[in-house]
Formats: sequence, structure tokens, C-alpha cells
Amino acid sequence: MQDRPTDPSLKLLLDALALAPGNAPLRLHVANLLERAGQAKEAREHFDGIVDDAGTRDDAALGSARCSLALGDADRALQSVERVLAALPDHAMALLLRARAHEKRRDHRAARADYERAVKLDAALADPAHWDALLPAREPAADAGTDGPAPPADAVAFKDVGGLEDVKERIRMRIILPFHKPEVFAAYGRKAGGGMLFYGPPGCGKTWLARATAGECGASFVNVGLHEVLDMWIGNSERQLHAIFEDARRRAPTVLFFDEIDALGMQRAKLVTGAMRGVITQFLAELDGFASRNERVLVIGATNTPWDVDAAFRRPGRFGQVLFVPPPDKPARAQILGLKLADKPAAGLDLGRIADQTEGWSGADLEALVEGAAELAITRSLASGVVEPLTMALFERARVRLRPTTREWFSTIRNHVQFANESGQYDEAADYMRRHGLM
Ligand SMILES: Nc1ncnc2c1ncn2[C@@H]1O[C@H](COP(=O)(O)OP(=O)(O)OP(=O)(O)O)[C@@H](O)[C@H]1O
Ligand SMILES: [Mg+2]
Repeated sequence: MQDRPTDPSLKLLLDALALAPGNAPLRLHVANLLERAGQAKEAREHFDGIVDDAGTRDDAALGSARCSLALGDADRALQSVERVLAALPDHAMALLLRARAHEKRRDHRAARADYERAVKLDAALADPAHWDALLPAREPAADAGTDGPAPPADAVAFKDVGGLEDVKERIRMRIILPFHKPEVFAAYGRKAGGGMLFYGPPGCGKTWLARATAGECGASFVNVGLHEVLDMWIGNSERQLHAIFEDARRRAPTVLFFDEIDALGMQRAKLVTGAMRGVITQFLAELDGFASRNERVLVIGATNTPWDVDAAFRRPGRFGQVLFVPPPDKPARAQILGLKLADKPAAGLDLGRIADQTEGWSGADLEALVEGAAELAITRSLASGVVEPLTMALFERARVRLRPTTREWFSTIRNHVQFANESGQYDEAADYMRRHGLM
């Protein structure tokens, strides 16, 4: 790490920790100090290093969530905070952190619901100036794991998605046009609906694109994390799944988004519990129901590991369309940087040059880069007392601290592309890899 702590007492504590790595309270203390010193990444490593100590585990998970939020990784923050809430569902601070994570993911309804629960449990957490602007007060959500119709004000549209022009065009033809003009497509025997499966490296916009598709259709967006459904309601999962599909029908038009679809399709042959097989059967039956009844519900699935998705899912009428969502190319990177900088003060930025220096970076990586540079600018502003703009120099400093995260995924998929691509399902990824010298 480039940023070794300069504070001598912190240095002493780190030395002590090196001698007693299993001392969880000490590690927690060090992590808190690092966090306070603005070293979120280092702090998180220590928070995450505490896993099985009952006395400090929950504080460590919340610390990790705070750091993830500071680093712009809302998904990881959510994971940490869910671990605490699974055991302590009424933990006010955990709820507030989850609200922040939802907010970052633009799930404003879910954010608002968690914020209200947190304040009910601990009035000191109230911050109406921030939260009232986000979304008007409302009744808490009835069901976890889904978010309701996105109010138009914070709906995401294709203009918010940088690059991915081919992918957007295919979604436009396959989903959005049939959705808006069902009669034209019906004349040719085609129906609105039918599922799409997005696959690709993490952070490149699968979830974002699904949300934008809902925005383009004027449909509500329901985001279902499958791991969550399966973990929480094992045994009860079929009923829960049915309820999710029914709910989507009631709210139609709806984009029903299943994240981590691999959680369901994973190695069906190896599934030992009959319960899991029941869930899969139920899921396929629901999908087939949509296909035959032509309802205004679009199903989109996403996965990082398409090879874990059962072939039964890819039949026509189910997830018939499989789309590769690649990392942004240079113009797309410049565009994404522009989008993420829209509301920030900047001076003399050459986005083309930054885009040149960030080959292989995902949209999420670029977002973290902008946040990193913004953090440096904030530190400067606090010292100088005036608003300091984002500059090339700050971007440079933020960039050398970060690493692109898509390479690892390509090294994983390489084998599948080379040895398990008989039906051509990975052709798009293979093509991308050849063009970028990744294969
Ligand atoms: N093409 C893009 N245009 C604008 N923003 C993007 C783009 N790609 C990613 N982002 C930003 O990065 C964040 C992460 O993207 P997203 O959650 O859609 O990735 P993902 O492909 O679903 O990743 P994972 O596989 O980890 O679920 C988004 O919230 C968005 O802000
Ligand atoms: Mg995602």
C-alpha cells in the first residue's frame, strides 16, 4: 500500500497487531483509526479480517459497510450490512447504512423505508434535510428484496448508460419497441415479453442497464437478489418466488430483474436437496407462464457465471436472448466519466486522456475513480476553505491507488470460451476477447 500511516501511535498499534493477529478488539480499534484517517480501503481490510469473534463481528461488519460506501461499492456494503441484519433485524445503525447503500444504488424507495425504520428505532439518526429531499415519506415496504415502481424523478434511462450502443440497440428492438407497440409485433406473431440474460464481468452495467430498460419502458423495476430469496426462505422459497411473480403482474408494466441467476441454475445435477429442485421447477413454470400469457412483465436475469446457469433456462420463451455486457471501450469510458462528473466542480479535465489510461476499467471502477478524486478535492477544500475543483493531478493521484477489476473475470471465462462453447453461447465474449488480445 502506498499510504502507510504516518501517525506514530497508529504505527505502534499496527506493529502490535502484527504480533497478535488474532486479537479482534485490537484489530477493530486499528480499523476504526484507519477509517477516521480517511484510509477506507486499508480500514476495510482490517474490518473484514474479523469474522468469527462474536464480540466484535457486528461492529466490524458495519465498519466494513461504511468503508465500502466511502469507496463507492454499494453492493459490497449491502452484503456486509445484511450479515448484521440477518441476526439483528432491528439494528438501527445497520438499517441506516442499508438505507445509504440503497440510495447509492438509486433504490430510493427501499432507502426511504430503511431510513424510516432506523429513525423509529433511534430518533437521533433523523436527518430530514437529506432524506426528505430524496423521496416523500411513505409506508414501509411490505416485502423485502423488491423495490416498487421507481418514481419517474429518479428513473434511469439509456442516456445514463455510457457506451454499450450495440447492447442498447438490441434491447430496443427486442424489448422496448415490442413493449410500446405490441400491435405491430403481434401482427408478425411476436409478443412483448420473453426474457433476456445479461452476462459479463462485474461492475460493467448489467444491473444498471436493466434499470435503464425499465426506465425506457416506463415500467416499474423490481430487483430480486436470488441469493437472498434462497437463503432467507429455504423451504418456503417456492411460495416466495410465486409471490414475487404475482406481485410483478399486479404492478405491470414491470421489469422483473433476477440478479445472480446462477444461484438458481447452479449445477442442478449436484443439488442434493429436493427443496432446491422444487424452486427451480417453480421458477421455470413461472417463466413459461409469462411467455404463454403475454403479460406486460419483462424478465431480465444477470450473472457473472453463465456457465453455472442451467441450459433449461436458456430455452426460447425463458431467457432466450443471451447478451454479453462488455467493459466500456475508450469513448464509452470518457462518456461514463462525464456522466459521473456531471454534478461536480472540475477544471481542465481531459476525459479522453483519462479514458486512455483506464483500459480494462469497468463502469464501477470509473465511478470509484471519480469518487476517489472527489475525496481528495474535498480534503483540499477543507484545508483551503474554498471549493477546490477536480483536476487532472487529483485524478492521477486517485488512479494510481486503484486497479481495474475486469481482467480476473476474463481469465476465468477463457476456458469456457475455448472448451465449452459448442452452442456458441459465448461467441460475443469470445469476439470481444480476440479483439482485445485477451485470448
Ligand atoms: N455503462 C455504464 N454507464 C454508466 N454507469 C455505469 C456503467 N456501467 C457501470 N456503471 C456504474 O457502475 C455501477 C455498477 O454497475 P452495475 O451494478 O450495473 O454492474 P453489474 O454489471 O451489475 O455488476 P455485478 O456483476 O457486480 O452485479 C452502476 O451503479 C453505475 O453507476
Ligand atoms: Mg449487478
